[in-house]
Amino acid sequence: MEDSVKTDSVANGGGLLYEDRNPEDTLSSTDLSEMLAAGTKEVHEKAENTQFVKEFLKGRIRKELFKLGHVALYYTYEAMEEEIERNKDHPDFSPLYFPELNRCDALAHDLEYFYGEDWKERVSCSPATQRYVERIHQVGQADPVLLVAHAYTRYMGDLSGGQVLKKVAQRALKLPATGEGVNFYQFDGIHSAKAFKQLYRSRMNELELDVATKERLVTEAVLAFQFNMEVFDELDEMGKHIPEEVMQADMPVHGAHGTGGD
Ligand code: HEM
Repeated sequence: MEDSVKTDSVANGGGLLYEDRNPEDTLSSTDLSEMLAAGTKEVHEKAENTQFVKEFLKGRIRKELFKLGHVALYYTYEAMEEEIERNKDHPDFSPLYFPELNRCDALAHDLEYFYGEDWKERVSCSPATQRYVERIHQVGQADPVLLVAHAYTRYMGDLSGGQVLKKVAQRALKLPATGEGVNFYQFDGIHSAKAFKQLYRSRMNELELDVATKERLVTEAVLAFQFNMEVFDELDEMGKHIPEEVMQADMPVHGAHGTGGD
């Protein structure tokens, strides 16, 4: 009866309204991917508007702070990937087990580049990161289905903004074009982020979960965003105590020879 609604994906959604932009977007879908996207929209906007993230996007990031951001990411992904490994055969998580998403080794390489071979002795987990890490372990061990929310929040975000953030960081921090220091943003096993995100969404939708569990997942994803924002705010605060450095790639370096400063 509704000729304008053509795709298979809406076949079981009689009576729902669909946006023209994307026939899969529904106003009250019980597809987990839709519920997560809709349920985190507001907190996503908040995250985008944190001072740390806004400044980073403008290329206003100092190397010391970027390094501390990477340290926070390292501990976060170490915890998440440990719990993912623990739960890789759990039916509530196994369809989302994609080792090509793993970021922990990439972050370890970046940290080695920034801090040297003994980087592990030179970094530590900050209080806000520690709270995030503890939640990830708690979830992975006591309520593994909620790990889906943590994986979604980080990996889908990384796949969405990675290339832009990589370029911003390389430019602002004058990092080599060969990728040292920004391995985190580079998913070597994923050729199309867009296609992969579609696959990930469809895998999330195939999990056999009741609506109450899906709602718990939305709540957990909002919490995951909040943990990220607390880390950003903490970094912002740390930034106030880091001495000023030369920030922009195009700023003249005093006393440099032969750098074409004219
Ligand atoms: C998706 C931008 C920060 C998590 C997206 C998308 C854009 C975007 C354009 C849609 C991509 C697509 O549909 O293909 C941004 C910008 C940010 C930012 C400009 C900062 C200024 C964050 C942060 C997080 C995050 C801090 C979490 C830690 C996500 C997630 C998605 C997403 C989970 C997937 C949404 C879905 O399709 O379900 N982001 N983002 N983003 N982002 Fe962000």
